[in-house]
Amino acid sequence: MAQIAPGDWIRNTVPLDELDFDALNLKIPVERYSSLGFQEHERTRVWMIVWQIVGRADELPQAGDWKVYTIFDQSFIIVRGRDEKIRGFVNACRHRGNALCEGKGRAKRFTCPYHLWTFGIDGKLQGVGRPDLVGSIDKDAHGLVEVPVDTFAGFIFLNPDPDAKPLAEALGRSVIDGLSPYKLDEMTPVGMDVREELNCNWKVVMDAFSEGYHIIGVHPELLSVIDLQAGNSRHGVYGDHGMAVSPFEVKNTANCSVEQQVQGVRDLPGTFPTVAEVLPMFEQMVNRYRDAAGELMLPKGVTVRTLLQQATRETLTLKGLDVSGLSDDQMGDSQGWFLFPNFFMTIRAGEATTIMAFPHPDGDPNRCVWHVTAYMWLPTAFRAEHRTDLVEVTEPGTYPYFLALQQDYDQMQRQQVGLRNRGMKHISLIREEASVARFHAVLDRYLADPA
Ligand code: FES
Repeated sequence: MAQIAPGDWIRNTVPLDELDFDALNLKIPVERYSSLGFQEHERTRVWMIVWQIVGRADELPQAGDWKVYTIFDQSFIIVRGRDEKIRGFVNACRHRGNALCEGKGRAKRFTCPYHLWTFGIDGKLQGVGRPDLVGSIDKDAHGLVEVPVDTFAGFIFLNPDPDAKPLAEALGRSVIDGLSPYKLDEMTPVGMDVREELNCNWKVVMDAFSEGYHIIGVHPELLSVIDLQAGNSRHGVYGDHGMAVSPFEVKNTANCSVEQQVQGVRDLPGTFPTVAEVLPMFEQMVNRYRDAAGELMLPKGVTVRTLLQQATRETLTLKGLDVSGLSDDQMGDSQGWFLFPNFFMTIRAGEATTIMAFPHPDGDPNRCVWHVTAYMWLPTAFRAEHRTDLVEVTEPGTYPYFLALQQDYDQMQRQQVGLRNRGMKHISLIREEASVARFHAVLDRYLADPA
């Protein structure tokens, strides 16, 4: 596929109607959502060889800051070195395999409590407890086992496979060019950063956030602002990854008046919190087109959509965010990015919400852990003050998700109850769910051929 200039995604990506549906399998066997055998297959053929997001670079601001990342029974230490580089190591002492770290922290070195071997934050073996008891040992051959770690857009990626191809190659040029103008690396968690166990398979989460069809049943309040009309949504396929967008336009309601569209924008902060800061500028712009009696008359070429785009650009520019790399469409439309295997993100200028789903550490395929974060771009001076700390939910159902997310939270766990039934052999996808079909096609390719 030809390269697409950053910022022109909506106009140049493929409309839903033009996707090649014959190439997609729309019948997905349900075994993959609850079978232990299938999950084991995924573990070895996907999770052990794929780049996966393990955190944010700003979680480890100083040399020696470290955290542990665990996927299934595999444990890794991620640590920032004195040279600023973030590295990943297998979390096992090179003497007799003791786990070195748990949780997170800051260290000058890692000391194994078993026989006191010490390792530098660069992974090198520094000391062996009582050297007089050890005899000769090649320290260079006994450093921590390193695994590939890299960063993009402020996220730390790790690949358990020491022979993995570089992250930039795995992401591809279109993903890098498409996301870079948003300046995600300068965004901060604001309002929500939460991890919670869910009673559903991790792929149920990815499926749910890969399609907009469920809006009609689960989020009817969004119908007034997300254009689901056939042919209007656009789809980009970039290697294992993808992007889909439905224009953010307040016109779905039959005979929707301009005033109703304006009200639709006013209602947006319930789902897109940062729209609240754009509203004063938006109201100013709208009021320019009201007559003495207060009636709103938009001239040709000016729509509620273009006013929202303009208000967003001006508000963010006034805050200091360089939005010059972003198109007008990106000012208003919320693009849905999917990075294989487990990362979904809606992103608009100045804000993003990410959703990641991980297989449950206890190995039950009917459970997973999701990590949901709302990011906002803020000037540097305000980031620490507004930063939201991670909440690890221990009492299910107690975290106050915003409305749309709460609706998804309930729905996904309900779906798993149905998927567990043995009489149910496959799910049937429809055209609007092309992104779901593509996710499973990529997954099947990994499962068939790990190379
Ligand atoms: Fe770590 Fe022996 S297992 S020092």
